[in-house]
Formats: sequence, structure tokens, C-alpha cells
Amino acid sequence: MEIVETHCHLNNEQYISDLPAVLERARTIGVIQFMNVGWDLPSSEKAVQQAELFPDMKAVIGIHPHDASTASDEALTQLEALAANDKVAAWGEIGLDYYYDNSPRDIQRQAFRRQMAIAQQLDLPIVIHSREATQDTLAVLKEFAPLHGVMHCFSGSWETAEICIDMGLYIGFAGPITFKNARRLREVVTNVPLERIVVETDCPYLSPEPVRGRRNEPANLSHILAKLANLKQREMEEVAQITTVNAKNVFRLLNRL
Ligand code: NI
Repeated sequence: MEIVETHCHLNNEQYISDLPAVLERARTIGVIQFMNVGWDLPSSEKAVQQAELFPDMKAVIGIHPHDASTASDEALTQLEALAANDKVAAWGEIGLDYYYDNSPRDIQRQAFRRQMAIAQQLDLPIVIHSREATQDTLAVLKEFAPLHGVMHCFSGSWETAEICIDMGLYIGFAGPITFKNARRLREVVTNVPLERIVVETDCPYLSPEPVRGRRNEPANLSHILAKLANLKQREMEEVAQITTVNAKNVFRLLNRL
């Protein structure tokens, strides 16, 4: 079984002491590529540095809506320079988060638009984070459509997923599809065509059942794939194979693995 972990934060301080072991456990279940995602300038730089150490790791660089206040001209210029590194496969995670509102909403929208423009200019796939901000997120995305990228850790409605798919995006599903109270999200999973789905852990956050509450790690993709196979009534190997083809397409990994 070959699996692409399309969204993990191995640059998080929670992996400082045991990253090689974390990667090895994931490889054992079949992970062939890790997409290591930044959330601000320092974490993006770290994602690239780590990716340079491991042949099966790539970096995604950008400024998360939580950190939108740090998206200065200088920070964006430095990120743009960092994007020239061969290990950078996409721009993200970017978007809007009106649940935590860690940065003012107008600042979030401005940082989102500016980064969409940079990613488009650099011809990089995008990784989108949206929470409690569906209408505003879709409005910005429509300004830049057609798109190439992922709606990461998707938790919206089927109607929203369909609009995103129509704009060219793939839908990333993570641990929440396994949560006991996620009946509505599982209905969305059954509607999204397998040909448009990629899998991710978003670790160290959002550990799936049955390891919910512990530090998450890419090896837990096995639980997410098992739930996806169950919901799609397909074999787990088949689900892994199709979502891996999708991940290779969206991150243009076809000739690089
Ligand atoms: Ni994330």
C-alpha cells in the first residue's frame, strides 16, 4: 500500500525529540511522501530545512489565517524567495478562520488574497484552511478560479465541497471523519467522488479514533483510510491507491517520487 500524507506539521515542536521514529512508523504502514506544512515564516523555513533532510518529504509554505497579522511585505517577500527551493511543492496553509479570530478578519482576508496572488504567479498548488468562514473563503477563491490545490481538513457541507471541486480543488479529509459525533461530515464523505479526495492527519492535531486525544502522527493515516474505505464501501488498498494518485496529481509529484 502506498499513501501520501498530504498535510502534516512535522515542524511542530512536539516532534523535536523523535521525528525519525515518527517517520519510520508511517513508512511501515506505506507512507511514501510527507507534505510538511508551515503556518508562518519561521515554521515554513523549518519545513523546508526538514524536507532537505528526507527524500520522502516536501514542504508547503505560507501564512495561516491565525498568523495573518505577521504577513508583512517583508515576510511575504522572504517566503516568495523560499519558494524557489526545489523542496517547496505548494503554498499554504492559507485561508480564513472566523472560529478563533486570532487575527482581525480584514487582515485575514488581505493576507489570503495576497498569498493567492503569489501562489498563482508562482504556479504553485494551494492548500486552503477555512473554518466558520465559508462564504468569504469561497468569494476569495472565486476571484482566482480555476484553481489547483486542496481544501484541507474539510468540514463543510456537500454544497460547499461541490463548489470547490468545480473550481478544480481536491477535498482533504482528516481525523474528524472518524469522530463519533461526525455523522454529517461522513455524509459529505459519501458524496465526494473518491477521485477528488486526498487524505491527511493534520498532525499533531486531530488524532482520529481510536487514538483521539493523544499526539497525532502520520502513521494514524491507517485509521483515516480504514474509515474512508468503510464509508465508500471499497477495499482499503483501493482507497489508498486512488487517493495517492490524486495527491500526486495535485502536488505534481508524478515524476519526482
Ligand atoms: Ni494544518
